[in-house]
Amino acid sequence: MEIKFSEQKLKEVNELISHYPEGKQKSALIPLLHIAQGEFGGWLDTPVMDYVAEILNILPIEVYEVATFYTMFNMKPVGKHLLEVCHTGPCMLNGSDDIIDYIKEKLGIGPGETTADGMFTLKPAECLGACGYAPMMQLGKTYREHLTKEKIDKLIEELRTQSSN
Ligand code: FES
Repeated sequence: MEIKFSEQKLKEVNELISHYPEGKQKSALIPLLHIAQGEFGGWLDTPVMDYVAEILNILPIEVYEVATFYTMFNMKPVGKHLLEVCHTGPCMLNGSDDIIDYIKEKLGIGPGETTADGMFTLKPAECLGACGYAPMMQLGKTYREHLTKEKIDKLIEELRTQSSN
């Protein structure tokens, strides 16, 4: 896959960078990494991070440092649907371990693994700031709350149907 933003995406990227003063383009790094992750398969391969460094005119290591620090950036390929289940205190006390075990069993994958069909990745996450809705998970740009095994069944079914249409 060629690592290059489309013309339209590049316009968006340049617009983003233009919000920062001359010489401070590095400040656009995190939002730019989000865009890159969204554009290049949901994870940040080394050539993608190098491309981001080139755009911002900074060293690749400066990009690696940030990308590897934040768990919201994926350092290896993920499935089409990334199930980020919170397992921090409040979610744990409300049954997140059972939810994670249930997903493991249902999909036949462990934490950090992806199903053979490339559809689902399970990723235990630290507090996602929605403790009042525990146990919960992040799925793309949405939060799924007060999780139960029934809700997991329904969700997986929905996502499978969605993908087959
Ligand atoms: Fe799960 Fe805060 S502990 S959202």
